[in-house]
Amino acid sequence: MWSRHLIRFSNNRWMSTSVATNVKNIMGWWDHVLPAPKDPITSVTEAFLSDPSPLKLNLGVGAYRDDEGKPVTLECVRRAAESISGCEFLESTKATTKSKFVQDSVKLAYGNDSNVVREGRFAGVPALSGTGACRLFAQFQRRFYPDSQIFLPTPTWSNHHDIWRDSQVCTSTYHYYDPDTKGLQFQALMNDIKNAPDRSFFLLHPCAHNPTGVDPNYEQWKEISHICKIKNHFPFFDMAYQGIASGDLERDATAIRIFLEDGHLLGCAQSFSKNMGLYGHRVGCVSIVSRDENQATAIKSQLQQIVRAMYSSSPVHGPLLVSAILNDADLKALWEEEVKVMVDRLIRMRITLRQNLEELNSSASWEHITKQVGMFYFSGLSPKEVDQLQRDFHIYMTNDGRIRGDKQQCGLLGKCNP
Ligand SMILES: Cc1ncc(COP(=O)(O)O)c(C=O)c1O
Repeated sequence: MWSRHLIRFSNNRWMSTSVATNVKNIMGWWDHVLPAPKDPITSVTEAFLSDPSPLKLNLGVGAYRDDEGKPVTLECVRRAAESISGCEFLESTKATTKSKFVQDSVKLAYGNDSNVVREGRFAGVPALSGTGACRLFAQFQRRFYPDSQIFLPTPTWSNHHDIWRDSQVCTSTYHYYDPDTKGLQFQALMNDIKNAPDRSFFLLHPCAHNPTGVDPNYEQWKEISHICKIKNHFPFFDMAYQGIASGDLERDATAIRIFLEDGHLLGCAQSFSKNMGLYGHRVGCVSIVSRDENQATAIKSQLQQIVRAMYSSSPVHGPLLVSAILNDADLKALWEEEVKVMVDRLIRMRITLRQNLEELNSSASWEHITKQVGMFYFSGLSPKEVDQLQRDFHIYMTNDGRIRGDKQQCGLLGKCNP
């Protein structure tokens, strides 16, 4: 029953009690929603932005920057953008653009002469960059193995935990990084793979492990592949940094090639954020190797259905850019050259940082800085030391001590002598 009683508000306006009750109910809808815990990476940027010091330095963001701290647009991307100008508006090319992009993308991961690609034994769809690719796979895993879990390395990119949690897939961890040696805990890793239930899902970083920069070597990958095969595990490779470990795109795909050679059915997330600098375009691909072409068709249709219900379809501009680069010999050669320039610079920064720290006669060993690979240095600084750097020197990084390695100022970091 609607009540006719009126109530008077402080601004002298009147409202019937029934409406007021309704407003109260509506206001009650989200009262239980509390702020989400801060993301460990974006919260570094927030703290950095609110620091008024002109000396402040943000080493936390996972994106490549030039000497002035500015994002880099690769020349190959500029030229590709000119060559495809207008194509993204052609409705008729959407489907072909996407399937071409998937084909080009998986060739980069699996190899130009890969049997899997030649025989059409893979299902792939474009994804919203590496994050979207992981999320699509997590949803797929949940759909077909609802009671399964996935093993993640300790540590790993923090979003891995969030992606699989939000897809309602349980996560477990396996040993990876040894804080004492600042290297790989290979034996413990092998034991964890051995002791996991048969047919488990394992997430592997094929190159430039984030956040540690520590990768298994060729022989170790062979052993990991071998034990995964014996245990019938499903390897899922999250390849966000192809090219960024060694400067060589083929070499950085070695782990995946080893697993393919050993006959694994595997999954792969690819991102073009770092190696083509396409962060804002969100270009990536998720692919799953299958037993035969029919299985590939079935898997692809399921991935497409997951995409359809989430965001219908992905944008085409990024895939057009990537395909333009990968299918033009000159642009591809230019891209490879530009990747190499970025990686050589990252290596030079590592050497300078280590030299500067050693010149301070620090009692600690800084050898790991030049041993690690990729975009980050896993410095080994404790959360307390990270806090001190932030408080006293306005230098920002994630509290696990991860430093983005493209800052010219990184070389000067040692001079701060915290
Ligand atoms: C290991 C790993 N996977 C995936 C991603 C996702 O990157 P993006 O979504 O920008 O491609 C990142 C980014 O930092 C990463 O480090």
